[in-house]
Amino acid sequence: LWTVDDLTNLSTSYPHITQAAAKLKDNEVVAFPTETVYGLGANAFSDEAVRKIFEAKGRPSDNPLIVHIASQEQLDEFVEHIPEYAIALISHFWPGPLTLVLKKKGEQLSDLVTAGLDTVGVRMPAHPIALALLKEANVPVAAPSANRSGKPSPTQASHVYHDLHGRISGIIDGGSTGVGVESTVIDCTTKIPTILRPGGVTKEQMEEIVGEVHVDRALVEEGHAPKSPGMKYTHYAPNAPVIIVDGSHRFIQQQIDQYEKEGKKVGVLTTEEAENDYRATKVISCGNRSNLQTVAAKLYDVLRQFDQEDVDLIVSESFPQVGVGTAIMNRLLKAAGNQVILEK
Ligand code: TXA
Ligand code: MG
Repeated sequence: LWTVDDLTNLSTSYPHITQAAAKLKDNEVVAFPTETVYGLGANAFSDEAVRKIFEAKGRPSDNPLIVHIASQEQLDEFVEHIPEYAIALISHFWPGPLTLVLKKKGEQLSDLVTAGLDTVGVRMPAHPIALALLKEANVPVAAPSANRSGKPSPTQASHVYHDLHGRISGIIDGGSTGVGVESTVIDCTTKIPTILRPGGVTKEQMEEIVGEVHVDRALVEEGHAPKSPGMKYTHYAPNAPVIIVDGSHRFIQQQIDQYEKEGKKVGVLTTEEAENDYRATKVISCGNRSNLQTVAAKLYDVLRQFDQEDVDLIVSESFPQVGVGTAIMNRLLKAAGNQVILEK
């Protein structure tokens, strides 16, 4: 575990970053903070290195990885054609929480990164440690979220440690990540860009730059195979089952009372506005509803906190699907296996 606590004076010669970069060059895997969640990085040009990511996470091999770069020039090494709108997205949102799926070029990238697809997801993270590490490693770095497959993504080094210690070569501890949900994945191989996974950059923000933006049908209707293979797996799940209850506080309390009457210990995921309104075994506040960014930032930590509590069931409030609320609800619905109770 390398702790980097002074983010103001980061240079690529910072010793921890040099050590971690050396591991990457050696085809080892290391975890590092990004502005979204912690990533588990490996040299994207090496099969040997990338295989270690899948092993450490227990990740299905048909789920491709995002390639992280520190400069736009690196794109030319493995990406074929970048449409006009993608160039506009890059110049507005990089570095930042936006992953572009582009046509892959050449044979340099490990096939394990792209899971055999002819496209590749790429992003430039907006975190000083990530950027310094990528620069120093001087190779594109494949990095999924640094959690065991199926668990909530890590937003603190301690989450990575909990899931992966003993299985990876190191963790750079840069404190809590800021955004809290993963990057938005947008398919840029279609005429109109298509969101495959909602995330830190919102549809509304992108529409301001490029006009029309589509949403993959699998995200809005049931019965369609997602174009982003990762979206088909159960994800972000704490140990106890999650149920979203969409309604008034009174209605939510009625559901809680019903479960508790059945002998179940209920945990409640709510926000500061309502945390004193509920009676349940454990009530945890996840940020402030009036600022959904704060909810995104805490969501995965709160889901993980319930694993430390003696609860049989987690009742979560619902959130409006605007701005980053779209990503929050996408993750909560996955954590809940789409179980929603709606007040009539
Ligand atoms: O914020 C993030 O994106 C974090 C940090 C570490 O950068 N990374 C992350 O990676 O969330 P991961 O592996 O947990 O999620 C990658 C998602 C998956 O849903 C995967 O299916 C999709 O991106 N993806 C990657 N390459 C793709 C491609 N070529 N076509 C379609 N989807 C792709
Ligand atoms: Mg992930």
